[in-house]
Amino acid sequence: MTRSSEAAKAPLLDVEIVTLFPEIFDSFLGASLLGKAIGGGIVRVSRTNPRTFGTGRHRKVDDAPYGGGPGMVMMPEPLAAAIESIEAERGPAHRVLLAPSGRPFDQSLAETFAARGRLLFICGRYEGIDERIVDLFTPEVVSIGDYVLAGGELAAAVMLEATARLVPGVLGCEESTVDESFSAKRLEYPQWTRPPSFRGLDVPEVLLSGNHAQVAKWRKLESLRRTVARRSDLLQHYPLTDEEKWLLDGSPKAGRRKKTPLQ
Ligand code: 6GU
Repeated sequence: MTRSSEAAKAPLLDVEIVTLFPEIFDSFLGASLLGKAIGGGIVRVSRTNPRTFGTGRHRKVDDAPYGGGPGMVMMPEPLAAAIESIEAERGPAHRVLLAPSGRPFDQSLAETFAARGRLLFICGRYEGIDERIVDLFTPEVVSIGDYVLAGGELAAAVMLEATARLVPGVLGCEESTVDESFSAKRLEYPQWTRPPSFRGLDVPEVLLSGNHAQVAKWRKLESLRRTVARRSDLLQHYPLTDEEKWLLDGSPKAGRRKKTPLQ
C-alpha cells in the first residue's frame, strides 16, 4: 500500500525509539493499524539499541547508583551516543523520556506529538537513567499512569499508538478523531451490535428507532452518566455545561434502566 504513485514521501510521523529491548516492539509494529501505516510510508519507526554504544568488550550500559541503593542505573555515555547518532543521521527530534516520574500522558499530549512529526522516545530500564541525560538533552519527561513498569517500552508503545492514530491516513476513513477532544473529557457512551436480543438482554429501543436526534441525545446522556459514576474527577477539570445539566436533570433517575445497567 502506498499513498500515491509518486516517489516515496517523507513520513508524516517519524519516531525514533532508544531501547535496550528493541524486540519488544516487533509484533506491535507489524500488526493492525500501525503495521499498515508503516507499510504505507505514513509512519516510520526506527529503533536504536544503546548497547551498540556500550563500553568495553561486554558493551556495558548500566552501573550501580552513586549513594547506594538497589538496582542499576543506565550509564550516560551509551544513551548520549545513541541520541547523538540518531539526530546526526536523521535530524533533530522532539525528545521524550519515558519515566514514571514524568507528567501524565493524555489525549492533548498525543495531539501535540502528532503535530510535532518527529519524536525520539528514550526508554529507561532498571532503576532509571543517569540524570545528566536529562540535563544535557532536556527531554520532556512523560509517564502513562501511576504505577511502575519494568521499563519505558510499553509506555512508548502506548504513546506511539495514541499519536499515530491521529495522523491523517492512519485510521480508515470511516473512523474519525474529530470528536475526541470531547470524548477525552467525557467517557464514551456504550455500544451494541446485532443481534437485537442476546441472552435475554435487548438493545435499547432508541438505537433501533432511526431517530438520529433522539439517538444523539440519548448517547450524550449515557456518556454523562458514566462520567459521573466512574470518573467524577473529569467533571472537576471540565465542569458540566448548561446543556449537560439540563440533560441530567431532565432524565429519568438511574436505576430505571434495568436492562443496561452501568458496569
Ligand atoms: Cl513511562 N515508565 C515506567 N518504567 N513505568 C511507568 C511509566 C513509564 N509510566 C507509568 N509507569
